[in-house]
Amino acid sequence: MSHIKACIFDLDGVIVDTAVYHFKAWKRLANELGFDFTEEDNEKLKGISRTQSLELILGWGGVSKTDEHKLELATLKNKWYVEMIDEMHPEEILPGTREFLESVRDAGYKTALGSASKNSVKILEKVNLINLFDVIVDGNEVTASKPDPQVFLEGARGLNVNPDECVVFEDAIAGVEAALAAGMKVVGIGSAETLTGADLVVSGLDKVNLETLKGL
Ligand code: BG6
Ligand code: MG
Repeated sequence: MSHIKACIFDLDGVIVDTAVYHFKAWKRLANELGFDFTEEDNEKLKGISRTQSLELILGWGGVSKTDEHKLELATLKNKWYVEMIDEMHPEEILPGTREFLESVRDAGYKTALGSASKNSVKILEKVNLINLFDVIVDGNEVTASKPDPQVFLEGARGLNVNPDECVVFEDAIAGVEAALAAGMKVVGIGSAETLTGADLVVSGLDKVNLETLKGL
């Protein structure tokens, strides 16, 4: 018998597909610095913080910058990214997300967001989902990025449940590892080949329901 009491959701790639906006903004930055940035490179940045992403990108481009310049570059990338997410609307919510959130809440489960993004509140407001979360933990609160479990442990603490009473929905391997390190169940969103260690892997939140939670 499952003893799950709470669902913790990653944002980018689980609730909305913002990877395309991250890609456009990082590519613009890389191009201005004189090198290219591919969709394949972008895949490696899933679940990784803005600062760590920039470090990786500069490394791929063979470019070295001072800390001060890195901060300027990260700020510039975020400005371009925010210009795009400012135009987001509820039709961009990934299939089944609103329905699943509503059904788990109606059934008495608590809900939290556990994201590396510092833009999570803006995105949830733009797509009109903010009211479906009891607790939001994101890149503004955490000091250690996924695969560190901090973001999910903070979510459990905020919801007043034990880690083993939580299930995490995650599309990045760093996030799956973070959830496992937190002692939580994890449903991977994506491919089973990539998301090794997840208790279950599905293609999206349209493929899960209350029965899924009971089976964990
Ligand atoms: C994660 C994304 O959710 O948030 C990463 O998967 C991104 O690609 C990270 O770098 C940080 O996002 P932001 O919005 O704070 O730049
Ligand atoms: Mg993600």
